[in-house]
Amino acid sequence: MTATAAGDLLKAEDITVRFGGLTALDAVGLDVAPRSVVGLIGPNGAGKTTLFNVLSGVLRPTEGTLTWKGVPVPARRAHHSARAGISRTFQGLNLFPQLTVLDNVVVGADRTARGGAFSLLTGLGHHHRDERLLRERALAALDSFGVAEHAHRLPSTLPYGLQKQVALARACVSDPELLLLDEPASGLSGDQVDALAEQIHTFSRDMAVVLVEHHMDLVMRVCDHIVVLDFGEVIATGTPEEIRADPAVTRAYLGNPAGDPSTEGPNADPDSGNGDTP
Ligand SMILES: Nc1ncnc2c1ncn2[C@@H]1O[C@H](COP(=O)(O)OP(=O)(O)O)[C@@H](O)[C@H]1O
Ligand SMILES: [Mg+2]
Repeated sequence: MTATAAGDLLKAEDITVRFGGLTALDAVGLDVAPRSVVGLIGPNGAGKTTLFNVLSGVLRPTEGTLTWKGVPVPARRAHHSARAGISRTFQGLNLFPQLTVLDNVVVGADRTARGGAFSLLTGLGHHHRDERLLRERALAALDSFGVAEHAHRLPSTLPYGLQKQVALARACVSDPELLLLDEPASGLSGDQVDALAEQIHTFSRDMAVVLVEHHMDLVMRVCDHIVVLDFGEVIATGTPEEIRADPAVTRAYLGNPAGDPSTEGPNADPDSGNGDTP
């Protein structure tokens, strides 16, 4: 549920992003309360991924402010996320294909590594105790996502659903306070989406979750609060019930291939699956 401003974990205010002459986000605000699940929906091109990139710290907004636990995030610190306790998954998988499942998760644990996971993996670091700890943490994370038995395989040798679990383990191994999930249901079967809904409920006992998702049934089931974007602006916010009943939301989706927000089903987002570089 939404909390008072003072209690917000992450607060985005008046976020504007321009790409040349195109305004991808226009004075958008978003509040994430601790241990809440916030859904970010809207037709293709609405600005969801752009906002996600701002929240995760990889894209600096043209205007606007981010506040993390009441403290403004300095504009120049683009990569604030790792230290702040924010973790993300990517559209698509973005696992490193040449690294084992275990090493993929070790990379996600680099927040706790003094030398950094890359120096450990490349042998440039000599923090042997850190390395052992990192591997223990990564194995424990794989175990909690049911994929520890595959630790020494390459990701591509696993079914897609298991690869998604590896990606979730990598995002959660650093014990984030905020987990950003970019279309986690894409490519999953109905049963797998049910399992994902359970997982998101479980995550929200320990961390807040922001979810960009086309799978409306999942969004309506797991979110405490939903923000609807259209043409870079927030056109509605509220509980799933409020969003379902909001005529502005229905209008935004009418005539759009993303479909009616009250109906279930993934949709073919042109940019899904491309993924960003981890
Ligand atoms: N790097 C970029 N350069 C130029 N335009 C971009 C860039 N990223 C996104 N856009 C544009 O910004 C708008 C919002 O895109 P995006 O955030 O990807 O929407 P969504 O994720 O909701 O589909 C779109 O018009 C898109 O074409
Ligand atoms: Mg997108």
